[in-house]
Amino acid sequence: MDTQTIVILDFGSQYTQLIARRIREQNVFSVVLPCTAPISEIQALKPLGLILSGGPSSVYDADAPAADPKLLELGVPVLGICYGLHFIVHHLGGKVLGAPRREYGHAEVVIEDAESALFQGLPPTLAVWMSHGDEAAKLPDGFHRTAVTASALAGFESAERRIWAVQFHPEVHHTPLGPQIIKNFVFSICGARGDWTPAHFIETTVAAIREKVGAGHVICGLSGGVDSSVAAVLVHRAIGDQLTCIFVNNGVLRKNEFINVQNNLRDRLGLKIVAVDASERFLARLAGVTDPETKRKHIGAEFIAVFDDEATRITKETGGVEWLVQGTLYPDVIESSSVKGPSQTIKSHHNVGGLPLGMKLKLIEPLRDLFKDEVRRIGRDLQMPEEILGRQPFPGPGLAVRILGEVTPERVALLQEADEIVVAEIKAAGLYSSIWQSFAVLLPVMSVGVMGDQRTYAYTAAVRAVHSEDGMTADWTPLPYEVLKRISSRIVNEVRGINRVVYDITSKPPGTIEWE
Ligand code: XMP
Repeated sequence: MDTQTIVILDFGSQYTQLIARRIREQNVFSVVLPCTAPISEIQALKPLGLILSGGPSSVYDADAPAADPKLLELGVPVLGICYGLHFIVHHLGGKVLGAPRREYGHAEVVIEDAESALFQGLPPTLAVWMSHGDEAAKLPDGFHRTAVTASALAGFESAERRIWAVQFHPEVHHTPLGPQIIKNFVFSICGARGDWTPAHFIETTVAAIREKVGAGHVICGLSGGVDSSVAAVLVHRAIGDQLTCIFVNNGVLRKNEFINVQNNLRDRLGLKIVAVDASERFLARLAGVTDPETKRKHIGAEFIAVFDDEATRITKETGGVEWLVQGTLYPDVIESSSVKGPSQTIKSHHNVGGLPLGMKLKLIEPLRDLFKDEVRRIGRDLQMPEEILGRQPFPGPGLAVRILGEVTPERVALLQEADEIVVAEIKAAGLYSSIWQSFAVLLPVMSVGVMGDQRTYAYTAAVRAVHSEDGMTADWTPLPYEVLKRISSRIVNEVRGINRVVYDITSKPPGTIEWE
C-alpha cells in the first residue's frame, strides 16, 4: 500500500517538528521540508496536504524565507499556521500589518464560522497559544474570517480554494484542543486513511530494503543502543544473514554490556554478529591521555581502525560488501536540511558506524524518517526486548568521558561497579524510564574516610541524573533521598576504592550532561 504524506514547509518555527509529530500521532505520515524546497520536490512526494509552519520573520523582512507562492495553487489542501497565515495573505493579495502590540502567550479564540471544516467538534471558544508580531489586516479576495481573538483575526479560509489558516499554534501543548484541529485538517479536509502504523512502516521498509539490496552484502556497526539495534533488526528482517553486524568492545562499555548485547541480539533475535573484544587495544591507546577531546579522538580513530579491519575481513569472506546500515534519525535529517543551519557542536560527538576509511559503501538508513519514540514503537512491534528499547542514551566514548583524568583498566572497573549500582537502584525505584540519563562519574579526587576501624584513602564517585527532552538542555533530577541514600551506601560498601559519593545538582546549561 502506498504511504500517504502530509508535507510541512518549515519557515523556521521552533514548533515545526511538533506539527510533524502531532500528525504522525494520528497514524498519518508527515515530512518536514525547508520552505525553500522547489515545487517539483514537494510534488514528487504526492502530498495529501500541505502545512505552512510558523516562523520568526515578518513577510516584509528583506530576508523573509523565500518560498514559492505557486505552492498555494497546487490544488492540494493547505493549512497556514502563524507565519504560514501571513504568507498566504501576502501572496494572494491581502495585507499584513505589524500589530500594535505583540501577542505572545495564552489567548482565547472565538470561532465565528461554526461550519468551518477545520473547527468541527470544537466548542465556540478555545484556549490557544499565540506567538506573533504581525497580523492580517485585509484578507485576500474570496476568503472569509473564521475565528477572532479579542484583539485580532485568528483564522480564515476559502474552502473553495482549499486553503485554511490560523494565527495561533494548534500543534503546541498550550492549545489543548489543537489535536482536534490537526485531525480535522488531516482526515476531513485531506481525506487521510490513518494507516501509517508500525506494522505498515515495517512492511514497506522491509520491502524497500529487500529491493534495494538484492543479493548484496550489508554491514552494520552496533553500539548496543536503541537506534543501531532497531536499524539492524529491521534490515535483518529484510535480508537475513546477508547482514553482518559488528560490535566492538572498546574497553569502556558498561559492566557486562559486551555480553548482554550479544545475548539480546544474537541469541534472542538471531542476528549474525561479529563481536570484537578490542578493549586492550583501546585502553593502550588511552594510556596517559587526560584531555577529554583527545580521548574522544583516540576512541573514534581506534573504532574506525577496528571496524575497517573487520569490514575488510567480511568483504573477503562474502566476496564483497556494498552497503552500510546507519541508525540516523529524523531530527538529524531535518537539522541538516533546515533553513536555520546546523546547530553548534559543543563536543565532537562520535557515533558508531562511521564510514570505514577505504571503503566506498552505500548507506541504508531505515530510521531516517522516524523520531526516537517512533523507533521504540517499531522496536516493540519487532518484539525486541525492553532492555534494549528502554535504554537510556549512552555516549559513544562510553565510560572514558566519565572517568576524569587518565583512563586505566582499574578505574574502568571501579566505575563499572559504581555505575551498575546507580542504574540498578534507579531501576528498583521505578525511575529508570522517566529519567533521561542516570550514571556515575569517577573523580580523580582522593579523600580520607573510615571503615570499621580502618582509615581509608580512596576515590570519589559523583552521581548524576537528569531530565531532558533531547539532550540539548537538561534539568538535574531531584532523586528521592531514600534512593540517594541506598546508592551512596552501596557504592561505599561494595566498591573497594571509592569511599565518598557526591550528587551533581547542575543543570544544562550552564553544565553539560557528561562531565567531559
Ligand atoms: P553533553 O555532555 O554534551 O551531552 O551535555 C549531551 C548528550 O550527548 C551525549 N554525548 C555523547 N554522545 N558521543 C556520543 O555519542 C559523545 O562524544 C558524546 N558526548 C556527549 C550525552 O551522553 C548526552 O546524552
